[in-house]
Amino acid sequence: MLRGGSIPYLEGVLKYIKSRAAAFHTPGHKQGKGAYAPLSLLLGEKCFQADVGDEVGGPEDGDELLRRAEALAARLYGVDRTYFLVNGTTSAIHGMLLGVLAPGDELLISRNMHMAAAAGLILAGVEPVFIPVKWCPSFGLPLGWEIDQWQQAGEEHPKAKGAFLVYPSYHGFCPPLAPLIDLIKAQGKLVLVDEAHGPHFALNSSLPPSALELGANLVAHSAHKILGALTQSSFLHVQGKSPERLGRALELLLSTSPSPLLLASLDGARAQMEEGERLWDRALNLARMARERIEKLPGLSLLGPDYVAKGMIAAFDPTKLAVSVKELGYTGWEAAAFLRRCGVQVEMADWWTVLCLLTYADGHAEVDALASGFAQLSAAPPPDGGAAAKRLAGEDITPPAIPPRMLSPREAFFRPRSQVPLERALGRIAAEIIAPYPPGSPVIIPGEVFTEEVLDYLELLRSFQVKVRGVDDPSLAEVAVVA
Ligand SMILES: Cc1ncc(COP(=O)(O)O)c(C=O)c1O
Repeated sequence: MLRGGSIPYLEGVLKYIKSRAAAFHTPGHKQGKGAYAPLSLLLGEKCFQADVGDEVGGPEDGDELLRRAEALAARLYGVDRTYFLVNGTTSAIHGMLLGVLAPGDELLISRNMHMAAAAGLILAGVEPVFIPVKWCPSFGLPLGWEIDQWQQAGEEHPKAKGAFLVYPSYHGFCPPLAPLIDLIKAQGKLVLVDEAHGPHFALNSSLPPSALELGANLVAHSAHKILGALTQSSFLHVQGKSPERLGRALELLLSTSPSPLLLASLDGARAQMEEGERLWDRALNLARMARERIEKLPGLSLLGPDYVAKGMIAAFDPTKLAVSVKELGYTGWEAAAFLRRCGVQVEMADWWTVLCLLTYADGHAEVDALASGFAQLSAAPPPDGGAAAKRLAGEDITPPAIPPRMLSPREAFFRPRSQVPLERALGRIAAEIIAPYPPGSPVIIPGEVFTEEVLDYLELLRSFQVKVRGVDDPSLAEVAVVA
């Protein structure tokens, strides 16, 4: 028996490959025989052989193997049902919203939502009741929420069916979740959690608590971001009674030809994580070593511990290394470019920080490479004498207050639209999502009004050439407004 025990779906794929059946079925590359040579070189033969469509398991039913694999994942996470999804946590979020809410329903939703949630509001025709988030003013990073604001919003919107929140943040910051979940449940609402960055929490007792342990109803995990599944592979977990429409909603959203590579990778990642306690202990150990080494370097500091000490967050994920480069006179983007030249690729960069992830897959060599990259950064003078950082230091990088809303996101999305120059958008209603990416949290969504504060912030993003998504014009010279 392999480590992790049974892997029904993965074994189904292997069994079909071994059967050597003459393939008269999709995909057209016929298990690699017709693959484009450079692609074959890149991916290897096995990858194409495993790309077997509906034939997984041969005579056995692939759907049944998938159900068994999903049941094992549900057992690992201690939930009633787990779905394997092949369009990432994006599809999990869309499924949650379409599965729980009907057009016109209200949803309490934390404003640091990912743009996938904004898209879900459009798809499901939901009326959002946004809960503001606290931002760290020095670094422009979201820290979480004030529980009183959820309470007040819940009381003012008693008919809201659910509450949707992001936990942990991209940078691994964890606001206090247990009292919030208790509050939302006491208000009779469903708790929907985007735990994209925390699929390992439930697997190791030294990590912050998972929303699952705290009683959330629906929880999405990007197994591909943190665990060993292939990119685009996610879990959606259900605790307690499944919302009646959830399965149908997912069916609407997902391909009828889900990639067997992705599904097998979810099965394998789950099996591997049967040893989550041990694997994540190792990652935590490495992360501790990396933190100690980076912290000793002049000009660098790690965000997280300080926020906990000051009570700004309840906990943080130590495997996420949010490194401030502010004291060095670098912007985060400049530091990321420098590290790249040293052979170190970070997960993301923003105003003043770079974010590096350590997982169970890393070892001492990776910690050495990371520490060496940061040591070189710490010793190198910033580009152009630190001109960009000096300019940035004078700016207010806290995202703007939530803009007033005139239309539902869905209504605004489907209205006729036009493009206007950014500087002429004041008072107009947005027709598109505008989200700096990563992390992909929208500044404005369809239906909201461009305020002066929003325009100033977008100008700032533009002047630092921050990548934005959701927009027709990524340069932000023009924005889409309701005509
Ligand atoms: C908080 C959060 N939620 C959802 C998503 C979307 O997840 P996926 O890429 O798995 O579709 C992301 C992606 O970065 C994210 O950061």
